[in-house]
Amino acid sequence: MEVIRGIGRMREFVREQRLAGKQIGLVPTMGYLHAGHLSLVQEALKACDVVVMSIFVNPLQFGVGEDYEDYPRDLTRDSELAEEGGVAAIFAPSVAEMYPPGGYYSYVDVEKLTEGLCGKSRPGHFRGVTTVVTKLFNIVQPDIAVFGQKDAQQAIVIQRMVRDLNMPLRIIVAPIMREADGLAMSSRNVYLSPSERKASLVLSRALNIAGELAANGERDANVLRKAIETQIQAEPLARIDYVEIVGAEDLKPVEILQGRILIALAVFFGKTRLIDNRIVEV
Ligand code: PAF
Repeated sequence: MEVIRGIGRMREFVREQRLAGKQIGLVPTMGYLHAGHLSLVQEALKACDVVVMSIFVNPLQFGVGEDYEDYPRDLTRDSELAEEGGVAAIFAPSVAEMYPPGGYYSYVDVEKLTEGLCGKSRPGHFRGVTTVVTKLFNIVQPDIAVFGQKDAQQAIVIQRMVRDLNMPLRIIVAPIMREADGLAMSSRNVYLSPSERKASLVLSRALNIAGELAANGERDANVLRKAIETQIQAEPLARIDYVEIVGAEDLKPVEILQGRILIALAVFFGKTRLIDNRIVEV
């Protein structure tokens, strides 16, 4: 496995693979890999021949006071895990390679879908994501790219961007990977103290309760939201950022459950903000 730092070499690597008749898959990440990222690689390998994983902590998608500086980074460990997972090349550019000093003026914005949920709590976040993902697509020119359902809004926004801007690739959304006790895997889980880690189980528990209510015939979104909030508010270390029940395609709030529904939440444990979600189909 090759670790590539420069855009020029990345393009050359892809050209070599294409000449050899290979289909390219991209798994964009910010590194500090866990089994969730490696499951994205497995999904990519089902759909293409060669997987490129990008590892880039993108400053553009972090707001003031967020964890850009503290975001965990360990390229040596990531390289070992990626190689074991079947990645052919890591693309790990520097910030200067992606955003050369001297001014950066070009952004990609997806409207509407980025206004609610995480977009409301983290203004500018999705503009940073769609901009860097577009740059990665332009550099790697993959046939497919894989994103995790854990970042449900991100996956929906990227699918829309690809469709609206006629980007020539297919997006695959891979299921959420969870720890044995139910916590959704995230690089940010390392921030949790032991008591916060224990408290964080309330997220999957609350989503399961909402899922069971829906499965048992409850159709009032408010009843589900209240049930989730009650669970989370009973956990002293948890502070709700949002609990939203929205259409799984348009992300518009719903009052009555019908069709494909996304139940999404963001909750702080100390300074750590965790997100999780569940799709219900009624
Ligand atoms: O999901 C992430 O890790 C990031 O938002 C992404 C897609 C790699 C863009 O920086």
